[in-house]
Amino acid sequence: MIRVLFVCLGNICRSPMAEAVFQDMIHKAGLTDQITVDSAGTGYWHVGETAHPGTLAVLRRNNVPYGGRARQLTRADLDRFDYIVAMDRENLSGIRRLGAGSGAEVSLFLRWAKDAGTVAVDEVPDPWYDGKFDHVYQLVKHGCEALLAHIRAQHSL
Ligand code: 4NP
Repeated sequence: MIRVLFVCLGNICRSPMAEAVFQDMIHKAGLTDQITVDSAGTGYWHVGETAHPGTLAVLRRNNVPYGGRARQLTRADLDRFDYIVAMDRENLSGIRRLGAGSGAEVSLFLRWAKDAGTVAVDEVPDPWYDGKFDHVYQLVKHGCEALLAHIRAQHSL
């Protein structure tokens, strides 16, 4: 099983959106037996909460289901996941601050989409501050498509 973890700050806006979109893509690609998905936040403030209403609304508009609750990233996650993808550089530092894992690929979520030319940035801006959930959804969609292509190529799926 290939394990993918999306990480942001609060685990209520960006990483739950990426988890939901990626899970939906994996389901549609018939890869649920090969790939599992989760998300977490480097911060503790929203632990146990449902996703932000803005994230839930944009997912609903795009027919993507999501029922997860926020949780905080732990040291054990670094050993349990194969791909740990950070929404921005601050999240990347938060992951690295926990220590070194046993071989998980830790990277910026949008790096593969940026390489593919489908997005122009390599960080997902935080909609918590500006409310631009639709813009984030477009970035997340391109990011998930490129991440899935990367994983499929690495694992011959
Ligand atoms: P997220 O957004 O990291 O995309 O879930 C945020 C949610 C909450 C806070 C910051 C960012 N906060 O400061 O509480």
